[in-house]
Amino acid sequence: MRRKLVAANWKMNGSSAANAQWLAAWRDVSAPCDVVVCAPFVYLPQVGAGLAGSGAELGAQNLSAQAPGAYTGEVAGEMLSDVGCRWVIVGHSERRALYGETNELVAGKAARAIALGLKPIACVGETLTERDAGRTLEVVAAQMAALLAQCPVEQLAFGALAYEPVWAIGTGRTATPAQAQEVHAAIREQLARADAQAAQRTRILYGGSVKPGNARELFAQPDIDGGLIGGASLVAAEFAAICAAAS
Ligand code: 13P
Repeated sequence: MRRKLVAANWKMNGSSAANAQWLAAWRDVSAPCDVVVCAPFVYLPQVGAGLAGSGAELGAQNLSAQAPGAYTGEVAGEMLSDVGCRWVIVGHSERRALYGETNELVAGKAARAIALGLKPIACVGETLTERDAGRTLEVVAAQMAALLAQCPVEQLAFGALAYEPVWAIGTGRTATPAQAQEVHAAIREQLARADAQAAQRTRILYGGSVKPGNARELFAQPDIDGGLIGGASLVAAEFAAICAAAS
């Protein structure tokens, strides 16, 4: 039985004051699932300290594919571990679309995270054009194949995968539970072709306009093991309500 996992992706949001408010509200929450909060780099120490004792773990939203050295503006996985991160998102569609991250680079980042003992949340998902062209499963399979080329399944199972249809991110247009389940099942089948046992252990999260009102139905799908939450994670009470739906 896979324990549900709900992760907050704050993206490029927050401030010292807003984070402190969020963390104060979170102190009263007891979530029935595993919880990760992925904060912007500069706030990781603050958020890590604020989450201490709450059971929620700290995550980052990106890492460098390189070891520490002369890479101006980059942040190494070693540094994330050093400030208390246990998790890191790799391959978010915003990084793929806006910062040119390729399937291969994303896989390299996942492999580097794993090598450092950081759990990657590796994101895959199709654009609206790709879905309308009937290419969803093909696109996601190619993204997964690139990950599997650099990370064995049992290593991916150490972290988590996230299916985030690009057209559902921040649009208020959620994939239906059936649409999401179809892709999650295909991802798990692809994992199972390499290692059936590890595939059964791997948590596959859904992301894209998850709200308190639609989370329970999504999380009830057999291959949906939790969520990666953007906008709704910025309000502690909304995020807590989504976590409660993962019981
Ligand atoms: P929203 O929940 O704002 O749609 O964002 C989803 C997402 O991109 C999480 O990584």
